[in-house]
Amino acid sequence: MVLEGGGSTARRKLEHIEIVLGKPVEGPGTTWFEYVFLSQKALPPVEPDRVSTRMSFLGKEIAFPVMITGMTGGAPGTEEINRSLAEAACRFGIALGLGSQRAALESRELVYTYRVAREACSEVPLVGNIGISELVRYGPGVVETLASMIEADAVAVHLNYFQEVVQPEGAAGISRGLEALFKAVDVSPVPLVVKEVGFGISRELAAELYSGGVRHIDVAGAGGTNWVLVELYRAMASGDLVKRYAAEGIKDVGIPTAASILEVRSVSEDIVVIGSGGVRSPYDAVKALRLGADVVGLARPALVAYSKKQLSEFLEGFLLGMKAILASLGASTLSEVRRSPVVVTGLLKDWVSSRGLSLG
Ligand SMILES: Cc1cc2nc3c(=O)[nH]c(=O)nc-3n(C[C@H](O)[C@H](O)[C@H](O)COP(=O)(O)O)c2cc1C
Repeated sequence: MVLEGGGSTARRKLEHIEIVLGKPVEGPGTTWFEYVFLSQKALPPVEPDRVSTRMSFLGKEIAFPVMITGMTGGAPGTEEINRSLAEAACRFGIALGLGSQRAALESRELVYTYRVAREACSEVPLVGNIGISELVRYGPGVVETLASMIEADAVAVHLNYFQEVVQPEGAAGISRGLEALFKAVDVSPVPLVVKEVGFGISRELAAELYSGGVRHIDVAGAGGTNWVLVELYRAMASGDLVKRYAAEGIKDVGIPTAASILEVRSVSEDIVVIGSGGVRSPYDAVKALRLGADVVGLARPALVAYSKKQLSEFLEGFLLGMKAILASLGASTLSEVRRSPVVVTGLLKDWVSSRGLSLG
């Protein structure tokens, strides 16, 4: 996939796509889903096609508790990706997030690279996106601008602290982030989703967010796409040795996704939890639901499948696999998954006990 053009924000977006598709950007740690075992029956009591996976999410009905989380837009050529993702989301009835809309705030002529998603699909929840630094810089009113730009059902604010530390462009204003988020929740015309980008959200932060009115959290835990690794490759390409050493030194940070889902869920049943970060298989997805996610999210696998022109087949196979596993648990509805037996071993078991978490 070769894309070109745009200003510096747009160019960075394109570099990210090239690196994410071309380099090993996952790990080095894992999601800890490998410590979770579900008790499936070899003789399922439910037919897979009788499993009801429909649910309401962000004011719309979706056919599966699945979301492609925010990746792109903001550079010429990325509209093709967003259009394809939106068409696939529509075909399968799953939610879609777009990448940071910062580029469109900086130059309005890039708005079409995001709007194309809503034009391609009006039925599924569409989630806008902005970074916490931009929210601090532009102020809470920017959420309304972002939502109306793409007719979004929600706007995600991403917390990408570790990425910002190691990216050449740097991080600023992060300590005013919580205050900015609370103001934005108050004035936003649509729900605000607070999302990580691959380092997870702790119980403590989730509790603070909850107390400020946030009701949607995408944990985006560690074990999947690692943005410190992505920036490490950019630092290597530009010869920035300081950022390179910093990135090598902090690439292991983050809360594994399985632990982060349990942490956030422990704060309240009232939070809509998106379980994402390294969800790579239908089995991972069902484990995420069992641990407390309402919806599971994936990003890089959808981009990889798109680049191979296999997005539809990938999603169809993924969703088929999810239904098969749900049926094998005897779960004919999504709420039944949360009550199915689960065994947690190893590091995740230690984490659960030292943090006093419950498996529900
Ligand atoms: C190419 C690419 C671009 C991304 N851009 C954004 C972005 O603009 N805003 C955001 O919140 N997350 C962004 N993400 C992070 C994803 O939404 C997701 O949180 C993260 O990649 C972990 O999920 P994964 O392991 O399934 O890839 C991006 C991910 C990819 C792969």
